[in-house]
Amino acid sequence: MKIGIIGTGAIGGTIAKKMVIAGHDVKVTNTDGGEKLNARAKELGVNPSSIEDVVRNVDLIILSVPTLAILSLPENLFSNAPSEVVIVDTTNYYPFRDGEIEELKNGKVESIWVSEQLGRPVIKAFNNLLAETLINGGKEQGAENRIAMAISGDNEQSKKIISSLANDAGYDVVDAGSLSESWRHQPGTPAYCTELDLKDLSHALLDADKDKAAEIRDFVISKFMDGDAPASHQEVVNLNRSQFAKNPKTAI
Ligand SMILES: NC(=O)c1ccc[n+]([C@@H]2O[C@H](COP(=O)([O-])OP(=O)(O)OC[C@H]3O[C@@H](n4cnc5c(N)ncnc54)[C@H](OP(=O)(O)O)[C@@H]3O)[C@@H](O)[C@H]2O)c1
Repeated sequence: MKIGIIGTGAIGGTIAKKMVIAGHDVKVTNTDGGEKLNARAKELGVNPSSIEDVVRNVDLIILSVPTLAILSLPENLFSNAPSEVVIVDTTNYYPFRDGEIEELKNGKVESIWVSEQLGRPVIKAFNNLLAETLINGGKEQGAENRIAMAISGDNEQSKKIISSLANDAGYDVVDAGSLSESWRHQPGTPAYCTELDLKDLSHALLDADKDKAAEIRDFVISKFMDGDAPASHQEVVNLNRSQFAKNPKTAI
């Protein structure tokens, strides 16, 4: 499969590496477009691309930039990609990083907002796995406690394609439903970066509370910012889990 990735950071870069290992043809872009991009692409084992070309001649595009950066992508960028090209949204909105985006502050479902900015349907995926989970948490299909990724969107065929890529990368997948349901795996929900297996993630998605999610998201971030030292990966997972009394993993 030909894959174009916008963003070569913790998530975009890790997905790029995983997709190459799975045998896909991957090109990437970032804000640099020059020597730094070339060096990063070499490190990842993929091809560097301009932002205009990364969406051309591909089967699937992965958007992995801070939410705020979506507003500065070239206008009509995605009109260069045929309508059958699958677009994956990995982004999460964090006001401390992305600033006040009025519609998101007012509760618009994040991936619906992203889809509106791009002028194209998107599938929300990879957003509920921490970068470290994506780097080291993958397991063989059928392995005990295999971590599951949430996916949402309005095109079943696209969701199948992405689920197959996630499986190749080492993760089970739980379908959370349509894009309008994708708030169930946004930050501040029990499905978000809590490293659950298929059964527990299915429950967690149902337990999500839309009215409480933003407050929990901001509380968790404030705890990390207040810490003297950066939190370890396990501390991040534990703090996320501890916000949800019904989460079967809270006790760990
Ligand atoms: N980190 C996580 O654990 C995690 C987990 C799940 C989802 N996410 C979400 O996934 C998204 C990416 O996160 P990340 O942690 O990978 O971020 P990151 O490490 O900061 O990387 C962001 C990437 O986006 C690129 N970028 C920014 N603006 C751009 C633009 N206008 N055009 C092209 N490229 C642009 C940056 O380019 P440069 O390299 O040139 O700066 C960088 O490569 C965010 O929305 C985040 O919330 C993150």
